[in-house]
Amino acid sequence: MSGLRSDALVFFGATGDLAYKKIFPSLHAMVKHGNLNVPVIGVAKSGWSLEQLRARARESIEKHDGLDAGAFDTLSGLLRYVDGDYNDAATYQAIRKELGAAIRPVHYLAIPPALFGTVIEQLARAGCTNGARVILEKPFGRDLSSAQALNHILLKTFTEEAIFRIDHYLGKRPVHNMVFFRFTNALLESFWNRNHVESVQITMAENFGVQGRGALYDQVGAIRDVVQNHLFQVLTNLTMEPPVRTDSESVRDEKVKVLKAISPIEATNLVRGQFRGYCTEAGVASGSQVETFVALRLEVNSWRWQGVPFYIRAGKALPVTCTEILVRLRRPPTVFSTCNPQRNYFRFRISPDITGAFGLTVNDPEDKMVGQQIELLATRHPGAEQADAYERLLDDAMQGDATLFARQDYMEEAWRIIDPILKTTTPVYEYEPGTWGPTELDQRVMPPGGWQNPVVTG
Ligand code: BG6
Repeated sequence: MSGLRSDALVFFGATGDLAYKKIFPSLHAMVKHGNLNVPVIGVAKSGWSLEQLRARARESIEKHDGLDAGAFDTLSGLLRYVDGDYNDAATYQAIRKELGAAIRPVHYLAIPPALFGTVIEQLARAGCTNGARVILEKPFGRDLSSAQALNHILLKTFTEEAIFRIDHYLGKRPVHNMVFFRFTNALLESFWNRNHVESVQITMAENFGVQGRGALYDQVGAIRDVVQNHLFQVLTNLTMEPPVRTDSESVRDEKVKVLKAISPIEATNLVRGQFRGYCTEAGVASGSQVETFVALRLEVNSWRWQGVPFYIRAGKALPVTCTEILVRLRRPPTVFSTCNPQRNYFRFRISPDITGAFGLTVNDPEDKMVGQQIELLATRHPGAEQADAYERLLDDAMQGDATLFARQDYMEEAWRIIDPILKTTTPVYEYEPGTWGPTELDQRVMPPGGWQNPVVTG
């Protein structure tokens, strides 16, 4: 199916938050870039008219992207709206009618996963799934067994190559660039292994709380929200072997191999935290034990990485918003009695800016044989391209290119790794908003040489 472009886009959840924040701006950008000229059918149960949906699209694009009048007119002309209950067969008959002559639609389910089964079954019954693709928003299940059940439902109607499980981190160019940078530089490859790397830290810090998403977040928590998906994608990009070819299956094979080499995380290698005040957020259960901060340690038990500890840390209400990776090398032996050299490192920042830098020790120009820490900047971009991850993913899915989407086996392996910690009760330590998580962190999950907290300037 790959290669034949979808000839209609149906998106469920058209009046929702994601549509407002990401989907409309992406559709607008796709039109602007000449990549969208097929019917776009929004579906929701809001009692709206097409005109209301168009007005919502306009407002969303003005707010997030800046409106291009010509592109917006074209998008308005492509837009259709079906208002109806997801359980009602009439909704799907109306979609079928709007699809008209389309024979390769793509259905984008930007709705809670509990509804996936119903929608897919109803779409199939109404004859909307022949030749179709399906895109699924995260979260893809809430543990291993629910993800397996979802896959089972999907695979009854679609082949794996027609299924596109979204992880918007994969649509971010710097996340993909990590793979490019690794495999286009022999220098990096020479130390990218257990012989030289002492430890790796991945930090995803956000300096805001749950931003009105309390009810949703309280069902999820940091492990499910960003570790099982976004940060595991970062981890696999960092650790995978070079793919033998660059087609989607060869790339995805290598990623799955990394996950297969990771044992389920043990509760002793985990710290969960919750920022003070979380329980008073709208929609959050009083006394909630859901984590807004997590730090964990794992190992990739492969030939390349065995014995190297990987630390993953993510949290809301931290001092900065930044996603950064730090690959620390083993400390060199001491030769000069006046200098105890620091560990060299490679630092890769995904956001807010895109940076790749080597940490080195040089001789302080003023002082005899005293070391000075410097960073050798390999690349730095302002990184203004957050918005287009969805554009890239929607465009790829419509083209049938699954490289940037999670395959069934990947998804299930990722859940397997975190399943035990989801099912074990572990303490949730309180931390002050604006700090780097609970004070208990350092006694429990601590990289050699300590955590390096990203510094964001400007
Ligand atoms: C989402 C999470 O998937 O990713 C949010 O649900 C998180 O909690 C967001 O804030 C971060 O993505 P980005 O692209 O803003 O870094």
